[in-house]
Amino acid sequence: MKTVLILGASSEVALALANQLAAKSCELILAARNSDRLAAVKSDLAIRFGINVTLAEFDALRPDTHKNFYESLEPKPDTAICVFGYLGDHTKAMVDWQESATIVMSNYVGAVSILNVIANDFENRKEGMIVGISSVAGERGRQSNYVYGSAKAGFTAYLSGLRNRLFKSGVRVITVKPGFMKTRMLAGMKTSAFLTAQPERAAALIIRAMQRKKDVVYVLPVWKWIMLIIRNIPEFTFKKLKL
Ligand SMILES: NC(=O)c1ccc[n+]([C@@H]2O[C@H](COP(=O)([O-])OP(=O)(O)OC[C@H]3O[C@@H](n4cnc5c(N)ncnc54)[C@H](OP(=O)(O)O)[C@@H]3O)[C@@H](O)[C@H]2O)c1
Repeated sequence: MKTVLILGASSEVALALANQLAAKSCELILAARNSDRLAAVKSDLAIRFGINVTLAEFDALRPDTHKNFYESLEPKPDTAICVFGYLGDHTKAMVDWQESATIVMSNYVGAVSILNVIANDFENRKEGMIVGISSVAGERGRQSNYVYGSAKAGFTAYLSGLRNRLFKSGVRVITVKPGFMKTRMLAGMKTSAFLTAQPERAAALIIRAMQRKKDVVYVLPVWKWIMLIIRNIPEFTFKKLKL
């Protein structure tokens, strides 16, 4: 990892990743909507760690801009971490197409659009690593968040296919499946501390997976066992549960 592109760099997990990667002397490209919000983060990281930090404007909801966005990056990254995501309001999404579309576009369509471009470049260069932050929500549709869950399921399947395609080119693809992470996304939601990762812990686990050549990693590891149980509940029982 020499130059790391973080897509969705204003999220707390992304900021924790940026801090920890800067401490490892990685150069950073922080891509976000209204990226000038990150000016203070840029100078702080550059001064504290003596690294180059670039800000870039990126909107997952604008696939038409993704090719130009990537082509404008100089130098090109050798690692891309796709952090952006949108939980949305599921109750609203059930009756409001625009909300459903934003959830699907933010978590799936936008990710496919930008990662298609990055994957082609990494494949040509025969190097690189792509990290996608998906979710355990993608493992089984639940009545409380199946629009978001289905978009993340699509993203997980996309990353699996990308990993399969790029293996022979020496490009690694890592799927990250967080359970709960204590960020803006969970604001106002009460979750058990045991099942909830602080952004710094999540970032450390993601970086460890990047260094250890993992393919799929859960944040926190306990979620691997929880999801094993959830996936194995027979459908005739699952459909009656209030989840
Ligand atoms: N928190 C959890 O419990 C949890 C659990 C499972 C998976 N995840 C996933 O983990 C990742 C990080 O989420 P988080 O918890 O850090 O949530 P967060 O604090 O809400 O951050 C989401 C980030 O995505 C960015 N984003 C949303 N739509 C975007 C768009 N159209 N273009 C560019 N950036 C956009 C947001 O940017 P703005 O600042 O511009 O809004 C924000 O930086 C997401 O993919 C999320 O789905 C989170």
